[in-house]
Amino acid sequence: MPDDLINVSYIVSAILFILGIKMLGSASTAVRGNRISSLGMLVAVIVTLTKGGLDYHYIIIGLIIGSVIGLVAAKKVQMTGMPELVALFNGFGGLASLLVGWSEFEKGGEGNWFLYSVICIAILIGGITFTGSLVAYLKLSGKVGGNAVVFPFQKFINLLVMLSAVLIGLILIIPNNVFENGAALVWALIFLALLVGVLGVIPIGGGDMPVVIALLNSFSGLGAAAAGFVINNTVLVVAGCLVGASGLILSIIMCKAMNRSLANVLFGGFGTSSSSSGTQVEGEMKALSVEDSYYVLEAAQSVVFVPGYGMAVAQAQHVVKELSEILERNGAEVRHAVHPVAGRMPGHMNVLLAEADVPYEQLCEMEEVNAIMPTVDVAIVIGANDVVNPAAIEDEDSPIWGMPIINVHQAKSVFVLKRGQGAGYSGIINTLFFRENCRMIYGDAKATISGIVSQFDE
Ligand code: TAP
Repeated sequence: MPDDLINVSYIVSAILFILGIKMLGSASTAVRGNRISSLGMLVAVIVTLTKGGLDYHYIIIGLIIGSVIGLVAAKKVQMTGMPELVALFNGFGGLASLLVGWSEFEKGGEGNWFLYSVICIAILIGGITFTGSLVAYLKLSGKVGGNAVVFPFQKFINLLVMLSAVLIGLILIIPNNVFENGAALVWALIFLALLVGVLGVIPIGGGDMPVVIALLNSFSGLGAAAAGFVINNTVLVVAGCLVGASGLILSIIMCKAMNRSLANVLFGGFGTSSSSSGTQVEGEMKALSVEDSYYVLEAAQSVVFVPGYGMAVAQAQHVVKELSEILERNGAEVRHAVHPVAGRMPGHMNVLLAEADVPYEQLCEMEEVNAIMPTVDVAIVIGANDVVNPAAIEDEDSPIWGMPIINVHQAKSVFVLKRGQGAGYSGIINTLFFRENCRMIYGDAKATISGIVSQFDE
């Protein structure tokens, strides 16, 4: 294919990516946006493959192996395991950038300082992303403990390793140095990059892992952009920059929703056992039966559902929709209030509620629902915990102090659906459960809601 046509096709791909990302901003256009972006990627891949001078044997073998692994992983993964899968995919993206940079370096030949700079950046960012994502995957999947691992002089050691990696990168880009001792230095750069990834992520607690994954996603984009410069591929540069920018924006949005700074997430050691002690609470949790909850709901004029991670675990979204329809038919005004960091990934609850066809008009932002909370008859908390913990706004000593919450404690009655008395992801006691207006309905959320639905049916 002629170069001009290739470049025009790449521009078309970039436009499709940007349009697709724009459409991801609204739940009603997100599916179409995803398809449009995928089409952009298909165009980019096909056009790149027609460039010529390629060894198609390796490409086809790689394509088949990659597609099979991707397809099986995407089909098999549970919705609750999605963040882990994203972490793994980010990691492989990083590894690909590292390998591209390394192989270009091994090719040797005449290169200018710019080429060697982008090679070093691809190796450094790619390596950090690879091992950082693996650690994030292991923590999120529970294969290693989720607590932050801290040790003396940790920040100093991390800084030293990072500076050594940057120094080696700088030596590598100095002309004439490259061919004399380049190979050993590249090995050292790869080793240090991999080490930075591990050292950078182990001090971060499991509760902050979604932010880390978004940040590593951003890194994988920057690594890909650097690899794009290395092999002179415009569309890889554009796609990498889009991923890099959107990952960073997402990380910042998540930090804002938790009222924390990115620096606090990365270096704060949140999630060490000493940081999550929480408040001592007086009083007791009062249990309610499904039958008794029915009598209250039957008379309710205004009901707010607040879903959290437990709704995803129980896969209760369809019965939630069923109950909300019943309550509406019964004359109640129904809303679903979604906290920005409920669940384990951005938009987790929105995806589940959309899957169950909950009407968009019933979805409420946190600020919107908090404004009317004192008028709400019943707030039903479905497997949410940290995002409704009043300690965040009442107890300055709480580790989650300052995180905006959905103020269900201000509703006339609160029903909390959870299996037992376990804490939320941050490991902190929830003072809501001890309030006068709060009742605990113990059991799997799906079974509990199905029970309430059958009470209405009788
Ligand atoms: P969590 O605080 O994690 O609480 C989930 C609750 O669900 C648990 O208390 C658990 O109690 C209950 N549960 C689990 N399985 C259940 C089931 N089958 N049926 C009923 N209940 C069940 O959830 P949340 O309120 O959604 O908060 C999310 C947390 O993740 C926050 O700490 C947030 O800061 C953190 N985080 C999230 C993100 C994103 S992007 N979402 C990003 C960074 C951090 P039992 O064990 O007693 O059942």
